[in-house]
Amino acid sequence: AAPRQGVIDRYRSWLPVTDSTPVVTLGEGTTPLVRANVLSAELSCEVWLKVEGANPTGSFKDRGMTVAVSVAAGEGARAVVCASTGNTSASAAAYASRGGLKPIVLLPAGRIAAGKLAQAIMHGAQVVQVEGNFDDCLRLARALADSYPVALVNSVNPVRIEGQKTAAFEVVDDLGNAPDLHVLPVGNGGNISAYWRGYVEYATAGQATRRPRMWAFQAAGAAPLVLGHPVPNPETVATAIRIGDPASTTLAIAAKEESGGRFGAVTDQEILAAQGFLASREGVFVEPASAAGVAGLRQLSQRGEVDPGQQIVITVTGHGLKDIDTALSGRSIQAEVVAAELTKVAAACGLAG
Ligand code: F0G
Repeated sequence: AAPRQGVIDRYRSWLPVTDSTPVVTLGEGTTPLVRANVLSAELSCEVWLKVEGANPTGSFKDRGMTVAVSVAAGEGARAVVCASTGNTSASAAAYASRGGLKPIVLLPAGRIAAGKLAQAIMHGAQVVQVEGNFDDCLRLARALADSYPVALVNSVNPVRIEGQKTAAFEVVDDLGNAPDLHVLPVGNGGNISAYWRGYVEYATAGQATRRPRMWAFQAAGAAPLVLGHPVPNPETVATAIRIGDPASTTLAIAAKEESGGRFGAVTDQEILAAQGFLASREGVFVEPASAAGVAGLRQLSQRGEVDPGQQIVITVTGHGLKDIDTALSGRSIQAEVVAAELTKVAAACGLAG
């Protein structure tokens, strides 16, 4: 069999690359669309999970990063810079190292899940921990790219959005059309903008006969799009979406308005409950931020606001192994140590009669 195509090779004609663009890829994209059986029954809908944790660095960021780093390399860049709550930095570090570019990442000090920090370090990034939050880091990354010879690979770089829109293409290619409803978590607003662009382009080209409504959920302590104004000190257990002033606010609002969708806020408790539900009932382990879409859908369903019979796709954005500290905190680990004897082990397994 041929090696798995990355998103540039799979969707080349839809992307801002030329024949002379060097393709820096790790075989990203073509992620599983998994039917959520328990959730489908719970909502009386047909619910699918777009499992983006299956990308090479464990999040959807790889779709945009393959394009951004390829374009930057083609333009002769020697270094890339990004601000990140963790996943963008992991992805930028991996793709830059593969493309022979130097990765520089600005992170909010002490607020990055350990797995993501490990990725940035292992891929050889220059890691700078900034005393501030993501919004401060993004401001500084933009200023660095303005004044120094480094290419900015945050989603304010439009090429990132172009790469990320391929997830919407894949959903349509898998289902044969766009779903009724697409649900996802939102932080900086890049991904909802990317999905919407993908759905619109595919419908315009006749690849789909409809476009979904976009429902996007933020953490209640970091919900500027829901509140309608920036949040100066965003707080949530879902560190990936701990963002108070989304760079793509205008595009995110356009996606919601044009699709007839909605924004909503979910509490940390709802997020962690949804994360536990996905892992223990659907078999899909995602990081906390990635569960925000599921949390939001269940919240609105409990309020009677999710019509039955719909086809729904939920993007789960990143892998659960990124942040095991949060997963393990608040859960008691059965750490009983038993003798290596069948009856004792059987009893410890709860199998003794
Ligand atoms: N889910 C995860 C796991 C994320 O890492 C992010 C964003 C989002 C959702 C929200 O996506 O920003 O496009 O609205 N993470 C960025 C980062 C900010 O730096 O890794 P968005």
